[in-house]
Amino acid sequence: MIIHTPVTDAVLTRQTIREYKPAQISPDELETLVQAALRAPSGRNSQPIHARFCQDAEALRAMQIDFKNIVGWDTPVHTKSDVNPFYHNAPTFAFLFAQGDSRMEAGLMAENLCIAAKGLGLGTVIVASVGALFADAACGPQWKRALRIPEDYQFLIGVGLGYPDEAPEMKPRNAEQIQVIEG
Ligand SMILES: Cc1cc2nc3c(=O)[nH]c(=O)nc-3n(C[C@H](O)[C@H](O)[C@H](O)COP(=O)(O)O)c2cc1C
Repeated sequence: MIIHTPVTDAVLTRQTIREYKPAQISPDELETLVQAALRAPSGRNSQPIHARFCQDAEALRAMQIDFKNIVGWDTPVHTKSDVNPFYHNAPTFAFLFAQGDSRMEAGLMAENLCIAAKGLGLGTVIVASVGALFADAACGPQWKRALRIPEDYQFLIGVGLGYPDEAPEMKPRNAEQIQVIEG
């Protein structure tokens, strides 16, 4: 039997949302998400991740143009990246960077954000694709500067956050990949 609590329900019902209402999240929701990001665990509490919550719609639009010029306009359909910008029109987008390759910590912070957002009734989309923008020799430094991120830091993952404007089916999972070894 599955035990339902607000936390387990948030984990069990989180799903990627790729359509958002235009309304911005509230200041209290933003503050709660910032605290959820801060509480993410890291090896030896090294706290390598530098997060930037971008609510500047004009900057996001400009990033999308540079991004498409780098990766090409003929993009895959399975993530709606043929019709949506990389941030899927989420009004808030968290960019996670680190000086080294702290992918574990970035993933944990991203999941903290997704679960906290779910608890707040918000939708989320985890986005790796926009890494191409920051890795680009011409555009990367400029956008890192705009986000107040040192040039030698690398983008690790992003999370779009906002009020959902779709209710997709839950994606299937391969249950046989998880087994319990009984003594
Ligand atoms: C590391 C990682 C990178 C991802 N990158 C993208 C992305 O660039 N664009 C996108 O639309 N979705 C992206 N996703 C979302 C996945 O496609 C999604 O989590 C997966 O299809 C499972 O669907 P669910 O989250 O609804 O269960 C990413 C997810 C993860 C964990």
